[in-house]
Amino acid sequence: MSRLIIVSNRVAPISEGLPAAGGLAVGVYDALKETGGMWFGWSGDILTSGQPQIKLEEHGPVTFATIGLLRRDYDQYYRGFSNATLWPAFHYRADLVQYDRHDFEGYCRVNTWLAQQLVPLLRDDDVIWVHDYHLIPFAQALRAAGVKNRIGFFLHIPFPASQVLLAVPPHRELVQALCSFDLLGFQTKPDLRAFCDYIVNEASGAVAHQPDGLTRIEAFGQTLFAGDYPIGVYPDEVAELAKAGERGKAVRTLKETLHGRKVIMSVDRLDYSKGLVERFRAFERLLDHHSTARNNVSFVQIAPPTRADLHAYQDIRLRLESESGRINGRFAELDWTPILYIHRQYERAVLAALFRASHVGYVTPLRDGMNLVAKEYVSAQDPENPGVLVLSRFAGAAQELTGALIVNPLDIDGMADALATALAMPLAEREARYRDMMGQLRENNVSVWRDRFMRDLTQMVARRGVALPFAKTAHGEAQGQQG
Ligand code: G6P
Repeated sequence: MSRLIIVSNRVAPISEGLPAAGGLAVGVYDALKETGGMWFGWSGDILTSGQPQIKLEEHGPVTFATIGLLRRDYDQYYRGFSNATLWPAFHYRADLVQYDRHDFEGYCRVNTWLAQQLVPLLRDDDVIWVHDYHLIPFAQALRAAGVKNRIGFFLHIPFPASQVLLAVPPHRELVQALCSFDLLGFQTKPDLRAFCDYIVNEASGAVAHQPDGLTRIEAFGQTLFAGDYPIGVYPDEVAELAKAGERGKAVRTLKETLHGRKVIMSVDRLDYSKGLVERFRAFERLLDHHSTARNNVSFVQIAPPTRADLHAYQDIRLRLESESGRINGRFAELDWTPILYIHRQYERAVLAALFRASHVGYVTPLRDGMNLVAKEYVSAQDPENPGVLVLSRFAGAAQELTGALIVNPLDIDGMADALATALAMPLAEREARYRDMMGQLRENNVSVWRDRFMRDLTQMVARRGVALPFAKTAHGEAQGQQG
């Protein structure tokens, strides 16, 4: 069996139980632990001088190969192009895009350098799976170094509509680089459609939908395949973690603090894409319009700081501190604080237990590739007395979790109404919605996600031999042989 090589900017925290930042680390590590293999990426260290060296560490079946970044590389590749240009653009925030040509050069340079570091560690039949927006040029760089292995790419964040992507000056170079992979995976069908739309309308390429559900793409002189692979969780494992923590310290403290009041719970990195300001305002609107909620409901927002050296993140932090202060000042009573706004990270097990102890999971990003918090919230519920998920239609998870109360995060009144509905929902309806969503989560757990992607990637060689006729429609859409 081929060895699996995972490449991502950040690798999961190596020790079990440590807090994991973001869905990538959680989803990918769970998948890699089962197959074994190697995980290559940035160590998280920033070096002021010297030559970064790869560090290899074995943990069970997984070898971690990590390397530090020089300060200039960190600034241009991670802080600059990845997080000040790509992240806002891919989350539909063209207004926040900052572009510096030197940062883009640094981004490409670091991708080439990282690829060169990986090459000596590779074996001929390794299958390489690259993750996320930091590493779009990685396959191009590996190919330039003579690597012939199969290379797949999975984008954990949304792929934006063409008109938004055009805001990134080197959009063409980026899409061309993506076409050096053998297989591209997107979280949802709308992301895949957005990519295909760019290929056809901006890159004069062709797309053909195949009988097996994959999309064959011809562009920039390359042939590759693309598909949607919604990432999942292990719902029963999360449920066990949650149950085990039911009598733990965190849940006891929360219950003592809240004296039997209902709890609305949110957990997000402190990111402007998460819709936190709108969410706080909708909670305020709930208190305004539903006097029964006052002194009877508390909203717990856990928001560990992230990318704090970027201006847009400092800004969102200040805005939220001001909003929570204002709302608490308006409504708090001597024995009740409406919003508990907590800036730190908790272990996954503690979060699962807190999810189980809460009545509403409030997950309302303005844009999100998937949002595994939504999936973990549902998984953590007590089947006999489940809480209700209030979920943004702009989270990838909304495509699957149709048993949630789906909201538009820009509609403050609509979100306040959904919170009121969730808090008052009878047990039978909560159970039915929970069963529906748990069924979906079990069917598409994280192993299914990984196995589907790996199966498609390992079959690439066979597929490349099958030529499909391409034809452009009158609307400029290219269509292939339909199955
Ligand atoms: C999101 C991204 C990941 C990233 C994580 C944490 O989930 O998709 O690629 O690792 O956020 O962000 P950070 O910048 O701290 O790595």
